[in-house]
Amino acid sequence: MKVRRCSILHVEPREQVEFNLAALLSGGDGLARGCRWVALAPHLGHEVVVDEAECLLLGRISPEAWVEAGALGDEMASALRSLLRKGLVVGRHARYVEMRRKDEEVRARHWHPLAATFHAFTRWSGADAVQAMQETGTSTAAELREQLGTPPPETISRVAENDSIPLAEDACNDFDRLLELRVTCRNFDTSRRLPGQMLSRLIGRVFRARSCVRVTDDTVFLKKSSPSGGGLHPIEAYLLIRNVDGVADGLYHYHPVAHALEPLPAPELPLDQLMLDALAQQHWFADAHVMVVLSPRYLRNFWKYRHHAKAYRALVLEAGHLSQTLYLSATEMGLGAYVTCAVNETLLEKAFGLDPMAEGVLAVCGFGWRAPEMVTMELDPAERVWQASSVEA
Ligand SMILES: Cc1cc2nc3c(=O)[nH]c(=O)nc-3n(C[C@H](O)[C@H](O)[C@H](O)COP(=O)(O)O)c2cc1C
Repeated sequence: MKVRRCSILHVEPREQVEFNLAALLSGGDGLARGCRWVALAPHLGHEVVVDEAECLLLGRISPEAWVEAGALGDEMASALRSLLRKGLVVGRHARYVEMRRKDEEVRARHWHPLAATFHAFTRWSGADAVQAMQETGTSTAAELREQLGTPPPETISRVAENDSIPLAEDACNDFDRLLELRVTCRNFDTSRRLPGQMLSRLIGRVFRARSCVRVTDDTVFLKKSSPSGGGLHPIEAYLLIRNVDGVADGLYHYHPVAHALEPLPAPELPLDQLMLDALAQQHWFADAHVMVVLSPRYLRNFWKYRHHAKAYRALVLEAGHLSQTLYLSATEMGLGAYVTCAVNETLLEKAFGLDPMAEGVLAVCGFGWRAPEMVTMELDPAERVWQASSVEA
């Protein structure tokens, strides 16, 4: 049978530290340390431990050229069988067809190897961010200082004070006032329904294609309110909507040219539960009327930026631009907004039917009516938002 190595693979020598009573009783620190090799292959989506013989063999098999298994030497036969079972080497035999398909899908998408590995192995599943902060005693700013010591200073100066050039104070206009009102909202009002018109306007402002630039029938670039590398606009908006007039609670995909919601099948979990679990239990965001999942179609970007060292970075930046446009649009409409990447991607992928190496989840935003009272802390030191007069829509 002919074999080749999977297309993208990084092998990490990882230290494993375990408590060991014998080590403690013999006067040591009670910790047993051992190193093991951990293979990170994005087409698998989970870590795989390999032994030294397997590690050595992985370095000898081409990821491109198919070679006869027998040519790798009899002494490697057992390691090869194990690597085939683990999916790190793929075989031409029908038995390996599923693994070969997964590997070929990753190959066809032109990922930069480091970006693919980073993306595949930084996704969360079942994480509880709130509990993690409680367990580490880092829930508040004061606790953070207590646990982590002094942070780096809030600003730096690169010249002596006298050498800096003060810039003029400018008159404040409506746009400056809008910027001052932008505060991450952690208090939403579930008792108030959002008019459907507000949903359409906000989603349109952020995600709608304002123009289509048609180069040929099959090659179209889009113009939106935020910038996008190469004008490709690969980031899709998937919505979880609740409590909005004229729109049934549920999951949707937004079509940026048609400016239309596309209803998706109901998820297995009730919507409230899905929202909270997806947000890693950050209940302060889970009451928002609309959650927007920012999900790049990677191939749309990597079609142009093939195996490109900066392509993934560009997508992360694009998500940031969309989030800021969403914040400002919501603020202007008297709504609260948030962004987070502390999310359980695997749950969102399942709910919206997204293959993580094709259309992963980069970030989650949300918006809705602000609550009348601040229960969870927001950063509004100048009290721009949390004065009754300024929150009224
Ligand atoms: C990329 C990104 C991720 C964030 N993730 C979280 C989060 O997981 N939970 C949260 O409560 N706030 C999150 N925030 C909001 C920040 O905590 C917030 O911006 C910061 O406290 C400053 O407050 P402001 O946005 O009101 O100026 C995030 C912000 C950004 C830009």
